[in-house]
Amino acid sequence: MEFSIKSGSPAKQRSACVVVGVFEARKLTVAAEMLDRAAGGRIGEILRHGDMDGKAGSTLLLHGLPGTLCDRILLVGLGKEKEFREKEFSAAIRTAIRTLNDTGAFDACLFLTEVPVRKRGTAWRIRQAAMAARDAVYRFDQFKSRKDDVRRPLRKITFTVERRSELAAAEAAMAQGNAIAEGSALARTLGNLPPNVCHPSYLADSARRLADEFGLACEILERHDLEALGMGAFLAVASGAHQPPKLIVVSYRGAPDDEAPVILVGKGVTFDTGGISLKPAADMDEMKFDMCGAAAVIGTLHAAARLSLPVNLTVIVPATENMPGGNASRPGDIVTSMSGQTIEILNTDAEGRLLLCDALTYAERLGPALVIDVATLTGACVVALGNIATGLFSNRETLARDLLAAGDVAHDRAWHLPLWDDYQELLKSPFADMANVGGRYGGAVTAACFLSRFTRKFPWAHLDIAGTAWKSGSDKGATGRPVPLLMHFLLERCGRLS
Ligand code: BES
Ligand code: MN
Ligand code: ZN
Repeated sequence: MEFSIKSGSPAKQRSACVVVGVFEARKLTVAAEMLDRAAGGRIGEILRHGDMDGKAGSTLLLHGLPGTLCDRILLVGLGKEKEFREKEFSAAIRTAIRTLNDTGAFDACLFLTEVPVRKRGTAWRIRQAAMAARDAVYRFDQFKSRKDDVRRPLRKITFTVERRSELAAAEAAMAQGNAIAEGSALARTLGNLPPNVCHPSYLADSARRLADEFGLACEILERHDLEALGMGAFLAVASGAHQPPKLIVVSYRGAPDDEAPVILVGKGVTFDTGGISLKPAADMDEMKFDMCGAAAVIGTLHAAARLSLPVNLTVIVPATENMPGGNASRPGDIVTSMSGQTIEILNTDAEGRLLLCDALTYAERLGPALVIDVATLTGACVVALGNIATGLFSNRETLARDLLAAGDVAHDRAWHLPLWDDYQELLKSPFADMANVGGRYGGAVTAACFLSRFTRKFPWAHLDIAGTAWKSGSDKGATGRPVPLLMHFLLERCGRLS
């Protein structure tokens, strides 16, 4: 699917389909109004006959309208004008793209990108439109023998802007939206892959392929390297698995060499059985998504490299399975992390923090400007925030604020949760420096508190994506979140967000 930008009158477009919006109740948008006038009031007439009233999600395809140069016109219902905001905008784009895919139109010209969204400008609308369009056509069917192929899929989409003076900014925003969507799609696919395919070595190969494509430095540390580094916590998780663990380190350098890198750490548990503290059987298949943090940071790296962002970005992925077995770690085991701090493993299912703590200590050695870890870390975060907001924790108020703002603009939102010292005592162990679990309550917070003990020397934020990284139920699948949030954060940091 290819995108382009244009400015012009809807009646003058020689396109297979021109797409315009209609608000409830039968209120035409500016572009629809222009078409209606060119067609001698035909659209208004059709709407008055009751064929469409503008309800969100509704569509109406019209053929052969007089006074226009396009083959078809697609009317997309936008709902009530007063309630038309970010979510409704993206939903309208999605509806348009899905419908167009079924009409057999080869190309389309979308005037929906001219519909105002409160507090958001043209660049925002174009960026979001590109993201939503790609998102709508994403498929994961590589394991289906019979794919439900689209007969004549939509190939070319033109987004319009009101004024010619906006074209340059819109082009840039389109490239950004495209890159973010591509990064999200990569993250979704890595997440959706079954755990017998997407194991730690597969993640390492994916990272290597990405590094080759963009000419990035890539280092894969093997078990013996982890032993030499003293990563006792990471290795404890890997000890039950037959698949070898990998520590994946990929660096994109878009800024001067002496500029400290932004480091993204992604939890890469390719399957989480819970280990000896075995999880119940119900929905355990969803624990293949326990590497969605890894997928998101790899997707973000892809997008940043694609856009040649002026930033130094390093991605670290500790990858392993969490399996039971004769060599698996036991509740009660005490291990020494790379930082030297000792940990009593009271629950082998609290494995994410164990591999992350060593990855964070490794990150410290690279002299980061800041570190953000992304992890499907706790069921407690899902209880707290559901699948709408990502849990955000940080040891710097400004970093938390910037990430919240980025999530807000991207419409991939996070919610700030506390990291107060008062919670730290829940991690007390009678035998070691700390326990790996903090008791029944406040599980998302105690997990973050655990990580904070390994991030004292640098600005750090933790994104708990346990609720947002994938969907359960009938449309089960990875979401690609929080690639949009991370990319908006990086774009803003590079002064590229308009
Ligand atoms: N990967 C899980 C977290 C998870 C669970 C994410 C369910 C999404 C849905 C993590 O490794 C885990 O098992 N956490 C435990 C921690 C507990 C033992 C302190 C949890 O949340 O139950
Ligand atoms: Mn677990
Ligand atoms: Zn896990």
